[in-house]
Amino acid sequence: MKYLIFDTKKEASVESYKILKSLIDENSTLGLATGSTPTDLYAEMIADYKAGNFSYKNIKSYNLDEYVGISYEHPESYHKFMDTNLFDHIDINKENTHVPDASAADLELAVKSYQEELNNAQIDVQILGIGGNGHIGFNEPGTSFDAGVHVVDLKEETIKANSRFFDGDINLVPKQAMTMGIKDIMRAKHIILLAFGKEKREAIRSLVEGEEITENIPCTILKNHPSVYVLVDKEADFKL
Ligand code: F6R
Repeated sequence: MKYLIFDTKKEASVESYKILKSLIDENSTLGLATGSTPTDLYAEMIADYKAGNFSYKNIKSYNLDEYVGISYEHPESYHKFMDTNLFDHIDINKENTHVPDASAADLELAVKSYQEELNNAQIDVQILGIGGNGHIGFNEPGTSFDAGVHVVDLKEETIKANSRFFDGDINLVPKQAMTMGIKDIMRAKHIILLAFGKEKREAIRSLVEGEEITENIPCTILKNHPSVYVLVDKEADFKL
């Protein structure tokens, strides 16, 4: 595992893009995350595309997760997030982008079909954020390391943390999500995990410094992955 500390989110994001670019070509498959963490990385991707240095025409992407109970058109849906923060600004073919269909009438079927899609894909680089409780994707503490795609009840702390995107009102935050499982995340060839802010510090400590690998802190499974880059700002650095 490579652990890299930067003064700011911006600096870490610029470096994460350099790492990403060194690991992919224009035919690669990306695993993508949403939330506040990857926004500056996506800005770097967009800027480099606009400068004519990289094309996404043949790139495929698979997103980690999506809320259950809000439509794609909801401004905080992860479908919308991806369009707004990345897909609408690059030349990716939307047919090559995949986000869990968590507003499907038959969720069980949607879970099955996302699992099939992932099984038939090979993600070259998975981008990850991390929850304060150590979740990756929406694999909350206690989730089996053998889990594949599933519907999850979000933990109270996750609902609270994400209420910042819903006018600070926890009642507006979806209580469930559909997520890739730990097993799916671990199949990626390379993982780039970003973490910013002091709320992430203890999770980063467990990931980088702790010795235990436990389902109670889902990110700790990444210790078993052969190629992980962890980039943090100084607020998230556990040595602070
Ligand atoms: C998002 C995801 C989550 C977030 C995590 C951190 O697709 O899978 O694990 O990465 O909840 O969220 P932010 O970046 O908003 O702090």
